Amino acid sequence: MFLSLLQAHNIMNNYQQIFENNRKWVTEKKASDNAFFEKLSKDQQPGFLYIGCSDSRVPAEEITGARPGEMLVHRNVANQVDPSDSNAMSVIHFAVTELHVSHIVVCGHYMCGGIKAAMEGELGAPLGTWLQPIRVLASKHRNELEAIDNLDGRFRRLVEINVQAQCETVVNLPVTQELFWGTGFPQVHGWVFNMHTGELIDLNFQP
Ligand code: CO
Repeated sequence: MFLSLLQAHNIMNNYQQIFENNRKWVTEKKASDNAFFEKLSKDQQPGFLYIGCSDSRVPAEEITGARPGEMLVHRNVANQVDPSDSNAMSVIHFAVTELHVSHIVVCGHYMCGGIKAAMEGELGAPLGTWLQPIRVLASKHRNELEAIDNLDGRFRRLVEINVQAQCETVVNLPVTQELFWGTGFPQVHGWVFNMHTGELIDLNFQP
């Protein structure tokens, strides 16, 4: 597909805007605390590990008010925690053993394109392969999902079931297992972001 000149122009403006925004942000940060970047570059001691969806409408720091240094973030399509995914496993391992985070959050969101695609059917690799565990989850919870008489309700419920399942995986990973079952830390939380209202919902995950 060819972009019109006008579209290309807009994209270029948006692109430059990023650096414009960055310069503005630096100025603002320094104005409020002149040593901000000096402090930031020293170390990180985030209390939270946030695992969320890649969706651009769910910006982890913005919806939680987390400031730089306060939250370690890992995002992928449909907020999956797969023990065979060395990316997610590295982040969790680092968060638990090096940063000693107090909280690990799995945050899903209603209207999740990944969950929808998994519900709707055939997708080729790599996305189809990535979403396969959600299909397995949907079939495991088939009775509960089919009892919901509208598609939107099923979709919402599968988003929640997915968060719950990823939380269960987190507490049973070798790196968290002993610590979690022994001390209750890091605490594991399942959240859903409702983009219709902007509200974060705590699913009160109980392992
Ligand atoms: Co999503």
